[in-house]
Amino acid sequence: MRRPLVAGNWKMNGSLESVRNLLDGIKRGIDEVKNADVAVCPPFVFIPETEKLLAGSVIGWGGQDLSIESSGAYTGEVAASMLNDFGCQYVIVGHSERRTYHAESDELVAKKYAAAQAAGLVPILCVGETLEEREAGVTEQVVARQLDALINLAGVESLTDGVIAYEPVWAIGTGKTATPEQAQDVHAFIRGRVAAKSAEVADGVRILYGGSMKPDNAKELIGKPDIDGGLIGGASLKAEDFLGICTAAN
Ligand code: PGA
Repeated sequence: MRRPLVAGNWKMNGSLESVRNLLDGIKRGIDEVKNADVAVCPPFVFIPETEKLLAGSVIGWGGQDLSIESSGAYTGEVAASMLNDFGCQYVIVGHSERRTYHAESDELVAKKYAAAQAAGLVPILCVGETLEEREAGVTEQVVARQLDALINLAGVESLTDGVIAYEPVWAIGTGKTATPEQAQDVHAFIRGRVAAKSAEVADGVRILYGGSMKPDNAKELIGKPDIDGGLIGGASLKAEDFLGICTAAN
């Protein structure tokens, strides 16, 4: 039985004050959630405050990105060891916004995943097709290419302690959620692709769904056999909504 994971991706949102309020709200409701892992991924600058407020709670935290380098002249970058210094357990890699706005390639994303894992972080590898790609009928090819870049670089075993997030780009921040069946189809495809290399790894790897997940659609999505939780953007910025999704996963 895979334990569900619900991770909040706050993207570039919040202020010190709103972060404090949000974490306070999440902490107050989290005791009910015993059968799912929960984490938040704030902007880098809010991670120290997040550590301070979440230390000793059941809620984990992590970054939204990291560098493949360990230190040096890389202006604006953040290394895995720096995330370690502030107690991060997770880091998102290859979010579609990074792939689109920062031209991150499948290969770079795979290297980020490996760098995170080498530092003891749990990477959350985002994959997913654009609307154009879905309409062209190449969803599986796109997701396979993104996944294979990692398997080719780091081996299928790298997924043993990692997480995959299927996030159809057309569903992110648009209010257009994939239907549970659409999502389940791609999740099953991803698991099958991992299983072709290792049935054991495929059985254990958590595959999250992301893209306009909300309290009122979370239960049906997470109820599908290959959907093991969610990567939540917009709804993770309101304690009540985020807790609603955590409760659905629970
Ligand atoms: P959304 O974002 O929940 O706002 O659609 C999900 C994500 O981008 O991780």
